[in-house]
Amino acid sequence: MRKKIVAGNWKMNTTVSEGVALAKAVVEKAGEVGKGVGLIVAPPFTHLVSVAEVLKGSKVALSAQNCADHVKGAYTGEVAVDMLKDAGCSWTILGHSERRQYYGETDEKLVEKVKLALEGGLGVILCVGENLDEREAGRHFDVVKQQVKAVLYNFSAEDMKNIVIAYEPVWAIGTGKTATAAQAEEIHALIRKTLAEKFGAELAEETTILYGGSCKPSNAKELFAEKDIDGGLIGGASLKAEDFIGIALAF
Ligand code: PGA
Repeated sequence: MRKKIVAGNWKMNTTVSEGVALAKAVVEKAGEVGKGVGLIVAPPFTHLVSVAEVLKGSKVALSAQNCADHVKGAYTGEVAVDMLKDAGCSWTILGHSERRQYYGETDEKLVEKVKLALEGGLGVILCVGENLDEREAGRHFDVVKQQVKAVLYNFSAEDMKNIVIAYEPVWAIGTGKTATAAQAEEIHALIRKTLAEKFGAELAEETTILYGGSCKPSNAKELFAEKDIDGGLIGGASLKAEDFIGIALAF
């Protein structure tokens, strides 16, 4: 049985004290969520140590939103995998469309980051997804397949056990415009097929694939009912504990 996960990507939101309060509220409600559903929160770097303290002993795991593409040294402004581990992270998000779009994150750089994250003992939530132009041109299948291959085909089946994929159509992120369950499912199925071609059907079946893009309590149930959708990567709705947990309760 593959793992079900609901992860909250706080992006560049909340002060440290607001983030600590949010984490406390999530921990308080986490008991309502079934044992089979993993919860992860990804606050900004500055919050990690304080939020880790709040999460200690709870079922909520800590993730970073990004990591450096080098181990250590003269890389001003970057945060290394070792530092994230030391701060209490067990995961990092990588390749979010906002990083690809605004910070020039390329597939080549992502291969390096995924490699370092796995070597350093972090699980990876790798984001993929087409933008609006690509969807309107009917290229969404090709784009997502290519993104999956360009990064993940550089890794082994063993590595894949610590990688979760998040399908996030860029046109659905923060827009209130969710992909329909059918639209999401057909891409999730394609991602699983793409994994099967390289790693075999069994590994593909075991891989957790999350949906992201305006996911909220009111639409989570329909999305999570699809056979290839194993949870969500939640942006806006993860900033309210009630909504975040409400989404996890959709399982
Ligand atoms: P959203 O963001 O839920 O606010 O659309 C999702 C994400 O970008 O991870």
